[in-house]
Amino acid sequence: MSKRRGKRVGIIGAGNVGSTVAYSLAVQGICHEVILRDNKIDIARGKALDMSQAAQSIQSHTVVKVAETMADVKDCDVVVITAGSPRLPGMSRDDLLMINAEIMREVSLGVKEYSPEAVIIVVSNPLDAMVYVAQKTTCFPRNRVLGMAGVLDSARMAHFIHETLGYGAGQIRASVMGGHGDDMVPLSRYSTVAGVPLTDLMTSDKIEKIVTRTRNGGAEIVKLLQNGSAYYAPAKATSIMVDAILKDTKQIHSCGIMLEGEYGYRDIVSGVPLMLGANGCEQILDISLNYSEKQDFARSVASVQRLVNILHEKKFFEEKK
Ligand code: NAI
Ligand code: 2OP
Repeated sequence: MSKRRGKRVGIIGAGNVGSTVAYSLAVQGICHEVILRDNKIDIARGKALDMSQAAQSIQSHTVVKVAETMADVKDCDVVVITAGSPRLPGMSRDDLLMINAEIMREVSLGVKEYSPEAVIIVVSNPLDAMVYVAQKTTCFPRNRVLGMAGVLDSARMAHFIHETLGYGAGQIRASVMGGHGDDMVPLSRYSTVAGVPLTDLMTSDKIEKIVTRTRNGGAEIVKLLQNGSAYYAPAKATSIMVDAILKDTKQIHSCGIMLEGEYGYRDIVSGVPLMLGANGCEQILDISLNYSEKQDFARSVASVQRLVNILHEKKFFEEKK
């Protein structure tokens, strides 16, 4: 009889986002094991200990362990990558490009070696370019290399819709596609409150304000925190993706993925609505976009392409001698 082990989630980067994802998984009992990896090893050890004790206090079966090296992030079903530098005040997501690309390459190679069957969820910024790096480095099938952004950006938009309307909390379904950058594509036409289209509930001026605030949602929090970026909502959004994959829910979420012809683009990563399940992305949804939505999406893809071009110009993807 084959022995089937429980679900294991690796988290690379035990900083604000990574540790909050781990905590969310542990206290919700979403998996059997969480393996935390950070090159600041004592911080990872301390957090794992603290979280394991929290899990015991609520009688969750999830155990949180520390990976001393990438070799301990072994045979994971899902690996979340948050390793990198956070965005600091005055720093654009683009500034993070080269430093985080090197980190992404290093940890992706580790995932490829030790968890070759895993679904990777990239969180590190600049998000879409980092998904591109993880995809090119691992050469995993694209359904197993996803980016977390649309779930977060949609939640931010939902919050701003509620704040504007003053009602509908818990009944708002907001939709954001495109890259996780200043020109992400909040889709008011695909956003509803209890099934009622947003466009029936508020003026276009108000919708435009919500769109702008959603696009600046990350920067608004960076400015307030002063020494780091948001982590509660990013971590929750990530654990929603992990949950959907481990439970094979087949739910639709907007996630970053390498496009291979969808929406007219190829060899570039962007956020599109897709079905999450045991194989990661089970299917990409080709939703209809009107003229201005297509233009917005094109602008967003072009921003990601600009970053990928920088990586190519710096010969990032060439074999190291
Ligand atoms: P943080 O600085 O708190 O955590 C990053 C951790 O990565 C640190 O503990 C650091 O020691 C670790 N690290 C660096 N290099 C490593 C390596 N080679 N191996 C293992 N660990 C390594 O940052 P935070 O706030 O957790 O954010 C993490 C990343 O996620 C940032 O790039 C941030 O911009 C991004 N982010 C993305 C979001 C999205 O929507 N996709 C939302 C929020 C954050
Ligand atoms: C955020 O949107 C910084 O990308 C990060 O909060």
